[in-house]
Amino acid sequence: MKLFLLLTFFIFGNTQEPLKRLAFGSCNKQHLPQPIWGAIDTYNPDLWVWLGDVVYVDRLVFPGYFKPSSLERIQEQYNIQKNHSEYRKLISKTSTIGVWVSSPVMQQADRPQDDHDYGLNNAGGEIPFKDESQKIFLDFLDEPADSPRWNRKGVWGSYSYGPPGRRVKVILLDVRYWRDPLGKIDGDILGPEQWRWLDSELEGSDAQVHLIGSGTQILPYDKPFQEKWVHYPGARDKLFEMINKHKTPGVILLSGDVHYAEFLKTDLVLTYPLWELTSSGMTHTCATQVPYLCSLALDRYFRSVYQQTDFFLEFNFGTIDFHWDSPDPFLQFTIRDTSNRIALERNVSLSSLQSREKEIVGEVIDPKYMIPVTAESYRTTILPILLLILLSPLLCCLRKKRSNSTITSDPVKQQKKIKKDQ
Ligand SMILES: *[C@@H]1O[C@H](CO)[C@@H](O)[C@H](O)[C@H]1NC(C)=O
Ligand SMILES: *[C@@H]1O[C@H](CO)[C@@H](O)[C@H](O)[C@H]1NC(C)=O
Ligand SMILES: [Fe+2]
Repeated sequence: MKLFLLLTFFIFGNTQEPLKRLAFGSCNKQHLPQPIWGAIDTYNPDLWVWLGDVVYVDRLVFPGYFKPSSLERIQEQYNIQKNHSEYRKLISKTSTIGVWVSSPVMQQADRPQDDHDYGLNNAGGEIPFKDESQKIFLDFLDEPADSPRWNRKGVWGSYSYGPPGRRVKVILLDVRYWRDPLGKIDGDILGPEQWRWLDSELEGSDAQVHLIGSGTQILPYDKPFQEKWVHYPGARDKLFEMINKHKTPGVILLSGDVHYAEFLKTDLVLTYPLWELTSSGMTHTCATQVPYLCSLALDRYFRSVYQQTDFFLEFNFGTIDFHWDSPDPFLQFTIRDTSNRIALERNVSLSSLQSREKEIVGEVIDPKYMIPVTAESYRTTILPILLLILLSPLLCCLRKKRSNSTITSDPVKQQKKIKKDQ
């Protein structure tokens, strides 16, 4: 396997063949049926990119509460996914890269007593849990033994594909390892070392297309609940400034995490339109998790001003086709379902994604969007409301019972009562 990947690295990574078809996705529960692999196989990408939630290692105990996992359990869950027959088939013939988003670090990161704080206060010190899970994760990806990703504190990495003039660089960001606790609005997401690395990746780059992958969404700032880059506005601005400083061409953001798919775009932050393609939900989506309420809630509260398409709520993966041979080379973005049918589609010419002499307008963001749902606010606000909703049927019936004691909700008692009345 390693040898094969090394070989594909030489074919795609170093030399002549330009990348033609890339597929990406996120949010895959290792225990659930995974009907998406057949569709990805039909699409037949040159490269598969994981954008987080590759497996779910934490167990949900109660809405919002997760039971953290031991390293053994984490390893076990990745083994289950690695052993999935259709996934095996894909990675046996397709280069595979990826980055994590929540599992396995996230649930620990929000806990004040956890090793995330330790890591921040003692940068450079040993953080056994994160480093072990990093090894498990890179091992899962068959990361080559000489890859620099093994030696970093975090799983960020970059890969280049294709010849000069038709080169694609995929930059994967680790938005977990160094992320400050949610609620620290002046906090950082990437950490100093990863920022320096990103700066050098953009500075020296001769690629025509730069795909920047982040588990969490970067552009849309105007959505409730879900974690997003705007909770750290300084880090978000710094990313845009870095792209502008290096006049990096062809930047497209890729993200996952949210359990639905959509395309977004803004003209406000670069000198050319910046797209974000979000694909999330390979084995479960918002619609399968909260039927009925999902589309209502998304429609009402989650439509970003930057949204360019509708939401897609079925199991999905995202793709980019590189039409290098067209007179005006363009990228074809799609979101596809489990039959490889196109659900969302946009074509964008590479010439429209070039840095130009133009004033950057900048965004005006209401600070209310920057406040995240932290573990703290979850406990003090959302949980009580949830409990109230859950308990409200009980409260109503108790009241009814008291006001009209002859009404009973127990069908057996009701039957008896009817008989007695007769
Ligand atoms: C992998 O799959 C095979 C057959 O599908 C099964 O026999 C084996 O126990 C699995 N191994 C793990 C580690 O799940
Ligand atoms: C995008 O380009 C492809 C390939 O040329 C074409 O088949 C498709 O219809 C185009 N889609 C849109 C929405 O323009
Ligand atoms: Fe997820």
